[in-house]
Amino acid sequence: MSEKNSEQAMAASGERKRVVLAYSGGLDTTCLVPYLQNQGYDVICVFAAVGQFGTRADMEAVREKALTLGAVASYAIDMREEYCDVAVADAIRANAMYENKYPLLSALSRPIICKHLVDIAHKEGAVAIAHGCTGKGNDQVRFELECIALDPEIEVLGPVRDWDLTTRLSEIEYCAANGIEIEVTKSSPYSIDENVWGRAIECGILEDPWNVPPADAWTITANPQDAPDEPTVVEIEFEQGLPVAVDGKRMGLLKLVEHLNEVAGKNGYGRIDMIEDRVVGLKSRECYEQPAALTIINAHKALESLCLPGDLLACKLDLEHEWARCVYRGLWYTPLKESIDAFIANTQKTVSGTVRIELYKGSCTVTGLKSDSSMYDFGLATYDDGDTYDRTAAKGFMDLFGLPNKVWAQRGAGAAKEA
Ligand code: ARG
Repeated sequence: MSEKNSEQAMAASGERKRVVLAYSGGLDTTCLVPYLQNQGYDVICVFAAVGQFGTRADMEAVREKALTLGAVASYAIDMREEYCDVAVADAIRANAMYENKYPLLSALSRPIICKHLVDIAHKEGAVAIAHGCTGKGNDQVRFELECIALDPEIEVLGPVRDWDLTTRLSEIEYCAANGIEIEVTKSSPYSIDENVWGRAIECGILEDPWNVPPADAWTITANPQDAPDEPTVVEIEFEQGLPVAVDGKRMGLLKLVEHLNEVAGKNGYGRIDMIEDRVVGLKSRECYEQPAALTIINAHKALESLCLPGDLLACKLDLEHEWARCVYRGLWYTPLKESIDAFIANTQKTVSGTVRIELYKGSCTVTGLKSDSSMYDFGLATYDDGDTYDRTAAKGFMDLFGLPNKVWAQRGAGAAKEA
């Protein structure tokens, strides 16, 4: 029987279709449980723990909560290690910076979350995946494109975008009408997305780009003015492009990122306030706190400048922008992203060594670099004793390197004379 026929047979027999819901525990996705049920679906909730700063505590409570809402099955999955080892690791090697400013965070977690959603849909025999994204953001694009890339047959639903319950109040009323009492908590004045790689803060008062972000927008970075008066010095060790130890202590990427969020955040480093171009065509004002992300990328770039040849660095820089744009636009599972990754992986073989960083009142300065695969040659560079550079070769080089320019100038001078 074809899939369509089996769906029709299911409907005729009164058997309900199954949908996997990307459930965050917030008001939108809570409301989606009765909504999807009323649409004839049995709902399977999946809560993805990717290191949200506020909700790290009780995954089991979130999982059970979904069952009390009427979900027929509920999962809470700790994806933090996988998120770091797969997505964050790729982003570090790529020095990922969308529009040269934003080290990505929401865009990085979606591919991992989608992978789990599709796997669970297969395991549970679900025909659709639902997300709680609005119609204005990038996340709808990522959820839909990435799920479809993983299973082109699956249907992706965006009910919050497509239905008419758009206000908080109407959602609370809808839940009440469906027997779900919502505790009326004070809603955050911002829209927040968080994971181990940082925090995104948008909406509310930030929608006017002239407004200074209020102090309560920031939660994981100190105000640089209040940060310690003494700098903190950290040494980050890299192996083949990835950080593996801080101050001589080896740790997995998740621990290392958490640690640097703490240390850099305390020193008031990691705030970003920018106007960003969304995939759906509009500009938005976005604030981010990404202390570990910015510190690691800063250090990684510095080490690459020591270990890689200049032409490779220049070519990689172009591809880094392409990589970030690609991931931002939900094109994670594509041959373009995979091919850039292959290039980048090849560049990282010799990116090993130690970077000394000084964190001080909102700044992060590289103050030292060393590597066994350093291309910096003291003998070639020095102006003091020990010079090994052959200056006599410079003269001939100048003649050839400047030759096209010389010819151009000669012709130009000739043409100017004729005129
Ligand atoms: N603009 C960022 C991005 O697209 C952050 C989105 C954050 N989502 C949110 N609900 N606040 O990657």
